[in-house]
Amino acid sequence: MFKIAVLISGNGSNLQAIIDGIESKKINCEIEAVISDKPGAYGLTRAEVKGIKNYVIDRKAEALSDRIFEIVKDKVDLIVLAGFLSVLKGELLRSFSGRIINIHPSLIPSFCGKGMYGIKVHERALEYGVKYSGCTVHFVDDGTDTGPILLQKVVPVYVQDTPKDLQNRVLEREHESLVEALHAIIEGRVVLHGRKVEILD
Ligand code: GRF
Repeated sequence: MFKIAVLISGNGSNLQAIIDGIESKKINCEIEAVISDKPGAYGLTRAEVKGIKNYVIDRKAEALSDRIFEIVKDKVDLIVLAGFLSVLKGELLRSFSGRIINIHPSLIPSFCGKGMYGIKVHERALEYGVKYSGCTVHFVDDGTDTGPILLQKVVPVYVQDTPKDLQNRVLEREHESLVEALHAIIEGRVVLHGRKVEILD
């Protein structure tokens, strides 16, 4: 059975999309653990309700990545960052190279990088006046939002949009994207050509 760990920092609607995807048999995997770097994150409740093992490691904790590595090493095939705000490093990153994905609420390389997360991403997109935004699922490397892009989905931006309007429109696509990306990875249909990612039919 393909096993994943899902790392969160907040509400966990992307985690919920994975849980729902498993229950509706869209994806064939098991969530071995949910790990939050923020105590009280609602995503922890989502895990608890489903009897999924869940852990809190405060983001200010020493050696956060090493603590996460202890939980996931030899136990999971893939780590999914679903609204996780801490930067991973060290042995965890090395040992899971090519086996960590992240979902970001913009069309990378726009509106991403250090400090670009949550509603701020959508505020910048609206300030810039883009006509389209969207979300990106990408592999995690040692940069911030710089790994090879697996999948992107586009949404229109309307002149009267508030940041919240745009965030909600993008979030719907995020949920679809994460399930689609997981489905492809689990079925072994993802091929990397250097930075370029091909998803086989
Ligand atoms: C999502 O917009 C995700 O793209 C970003 O943080 C947000 C997390 O939302 N990284 P949720 O916790 O999954 O609801």
